[in-house]
Amino acid sequence: MSLDSYVTLGRSGLRVSPLTLGAMTFGEDHGWGTSVEESEAIIAEYLDRGGNSIDTANIYTNGHSEKIIGDWFAARPGLRDRVVIGTKFFANLFEGDPNGGGAGRKSIVAALENSLRRLRTDYVDIYWLHNWDRTAPIEETMRTLDDLVTAGKIRYLGLSDLPAWKAVEAQLTARAHGWAPAIGLQAEYSLLERTSEGELIPMAQEHGLGVLPWSPLKSGFLSGKYSRHRAGAVDTLRSGLVGGPSEKDYDVIDVLEKVAQEIGVTPAAAALAWVRQRPGVTSTLVGARRLDQFRANLASLDVHLSDAQVAVLNEASEPSLNFPAENNRLLAPSLGFGGASVDGVRSPVSPLLTASSVRY
Ligand SMILES: NC(=O)c1ccc[n+]([C@@H]2O[C@H](COP(=O)([O-])OP(=O)(O)OC[C@H]3O[C@@H](n4cnc5c(N)ncnc54)[C@H](OP(=O)(O)O)[C@@H]3O)[C@@H](O)[C@H]2O)c1
Repeated sequence: MSLDSYVTLGRSGLRVSPLTLGAMTFGEDHGWGTSVEESEAIIAEYLDRGGNSIDTANIYTNGHSEKIIGDWFAARPGLRDRVVIGTKFFANLFEGDPNGGGAGRKSIVAALENSLRRLRTDYVDIYWLHNWDRTAPIEETMRTLDDLVTAGKIRYLGLSDLPAWKAVEAQLTARAHGWAPAIGLQAEYSLLERTSEGELIPMAQEHGLGVLPWSPLKSGFLSGKYSRHRAGAVDTLRSGLVGGPSEKDYDVIDVLEKVAQEIGVTPAAAALAWVRQRPGVTSTLVGARRLDQFRANLASLDVHLSDAQVAVLNEASEPSLNFPAENNRLLAPSLGFGGASVDGVRSPVSPLLTASSVRY
């Protein structure tokens, strides 16, 4: 697998690399980020290896992340059109201004103009709704985004961190009106955060959304520098801010280390390969604060986990999902399939069925 083994995103013709370069760390505004020079080196490394998809947001390092990307491409004419640049709106960068953020028409249009200025480009390839704005009607958000597609300012749209039911409402509203639907979903997903498997990922598969998992290393907990025996290896302020792994997390990290050792790769590479191989995942958002971390993460492209290795990791990280996930996984097939094998799922005959033929 390589960065130039492109895949289409959701129900669209947009082709992206299997790993998207996450630029949340670019810029030093928060005290733990990546310098301009090192951010540029990471972009260059990614593009040299055939990568074509970069993800940022208006709020990342207060706009500095977008500016670093914009300046890099502005200095290299002709390259910008060859990449897929995604950025996000929702975060309010204007203290005290109620329309400085959110998902209403006034704020979306202004946020896009500001992002285009920082990115030094005429259009954004994927414009992501960063979070759910419970105050804005979803039809207003989707209609505004469709207008921006028509105006040529955005090519595609994506949804991030929404409840599944709201994402479905967005998709069906867009389709019913003939507006551009979203083609991607960003959600937290890793060996230490698998609850997206309950609603979000099946929803995405059903509604034409390619999944871009974020924090695939759980902000670094799965990178190999945290283990039960090397606890406290906190490099940055950011790691300090998000706390440390729990005892249960360490159980997963133990198993990950064993699998990584077996294959002879880093835990980070094995953890990223696990995410990449999961159903529904199109392009994993790879974050790194330093170039050496980024290179180590790209090595995950050469890792293919066997079915047995995936099974061991799945078992160790089994999530506890909200109702009705377990009901649908275990009970529904035995009730509904009558003991037959359907779509590869073999089910026992339900104990409620007392005879093999209908009696009444
Ligand atoms: N839509 C959303 O709401 C949302 C939310 C979060 C992120 N995102 C996107 O997802 C991308 C990735 O998220 P993330 O940065 O949280 O991903 P992550 O891979 O879980 O965490 C990245 C952090 O882990 C550490 N790390 C990464 N690779 C390492 C390695 N090989 N060895 C040691 N440490 C390593 C670094 O932190 P330290 O060196 O500081 O320890 C790095 O900053 C972001 O850039 C952004 O584009 C989206």
